[in-house]
Amino acid sequence: MIICKLRQSFPNFATESNWADTQVCPYIFRFQQLNNRFQQLNNNQSTIKQLNMDLMQEIIANAQANKQRIVLPEGDEPRTLKAADRLLADGVADIILIGPAEKIKEMTAEFGLKNIGKARIIDPMNNPERQKYADLLFEIRKAKGMTPEQAYDLAGNFMYLGILLVKAGEADGLVSGARSTTGDMLRPALQIIKTVPSVSCVSGAFTMFLPEGCPYGTDGRMVFADCAVTPMPTAEQLAEIAICTADTAKAIAKIDPITAILSFSTKGSAKHEVVDKVIEATRIAKERRPDLVLDGELQADAAIVPSVGSSKAPGSPVAGKANTLVFPCLEVGNIAYKLVQRLAGAEAVGPVLQGLAKPCNDLSRGCSIDDVYKLVAITCNQAIAQKK
Ligand code: ACO
Repeated sequence: MIICKLRQSFPNFATESNWADTQVCPYIFRFQQLNNRFQQLNNNQSTIKQLNMDLMQEIIANAQANKQRIVLPEGDEPRTLKAADRLLADGVADIILIGPAEKIKEMTAEFGLKNIGKARIIDPMNNPERQKYADLLFEIRKAKGMTPEQAYDLAGNFMYLGILLVKAGEADGLVSGARSTTGDMLRPALQIIKTVPSVSCVSGAFTMFLPEGCPYGTDGRMVFADCAVTPMPTAEQLAEIAICTADTAKAIAKIDPITAILSFSTKGSAKHEVVDKVIEATRIAKERRPDLVLDGELQADAAIVPSVGSSKAPGSPVAGKANTLVFPCLEVGNIAYKLVQRLAGAEAVGPVLQGLAKPCNDLSRGCSIDDVYKLVAITCNQAIAQKK
């Protein structure tokens, strides 16, 4: 309104910003800038939402077409149970719920859920197969000093039981975390499911949906890792993280990965032992996966800005074009994704855990029913990709 009125009174207002800025009323010019930014942000949100929806629809359709069995160890957690009902209604996955059977029944009735009858429900404390899972756990952990009694106790724990179901091949993947911490799920997953043979180090990747007008990434997306798991990777581990992240970018974010291993140095511009680690990680990753478009060590601007990339790293197949960013350690990755999310207005979807022999993923404790639903669909896609 104010801008329209000003345009009528001052015809040059809209076209000669310097004039408006210096001669008329600087605060109203600033208002116009803010108004434009506000409209841009509104547009951004709708575009991000559309990109997110398109990708999620593709992921859900793939899950529906290749039904996987997903175990939800927090079966008596309200958001998890409601999401399970929707997943079963939509045929996204076969669901196994772990939790007190009576309580789940009561909650199902209280919430008026119509599809929970299609789920397999396992009550960990009244499980006729508890000894079978205890034996499996004992077998896996006896070399680490676990006793049969300890294994029996743990087979009655909802999270261990969920992980054991995945290990036993009775479930294709697991989603938890609405009530538990990252560590609660990660530790048993690392101890029991372990990593795929080619990987020693599990890591967590985020798909970042970038704001409209952002010239970086592919189709408005980038992938960042490790933002969730390994505090201080070695060069070997960093190479594995880079390889896994490129594969996640392809399988989950549906982009052709152009992967940069980041540093505060570009192609020898700085000398330090942490830079040496990134250089060595790049060498290992290239040697192991010559098929990947991957390079390092690159600074963030050299990785994503074409003009900086061509001046700092001429000839690099990645510099100036990277859509998959691998950070030198967890501190950097975790801080970077949160800053991009908050300062740039990107939407961060994840973390998707990569490198585990079977997919297990962790929700935020502040998650919504929708988050549980989406993470189950993503987990199904990981399971499908792993089987291929
Ligand atoms: N990859 C593969 N295996 C691993 C890893 C890893 N990164 N870390 C530990 N392991 C294995 C160990 O080898 C060990 O196996 P073993 O018992 O068969 O020998 C087992 O896991 C347990 O190892 P611990 O050292 O006892 O476990 P630890 O107490 O170090 O916990 C954990 C591991 C939970 C991953 C820890 O490193 C951690 O807390 N990481 C940070 C998680 C976090 O807080 N992230 C940020 C929040 S998430 C977010 O903001 C998105």
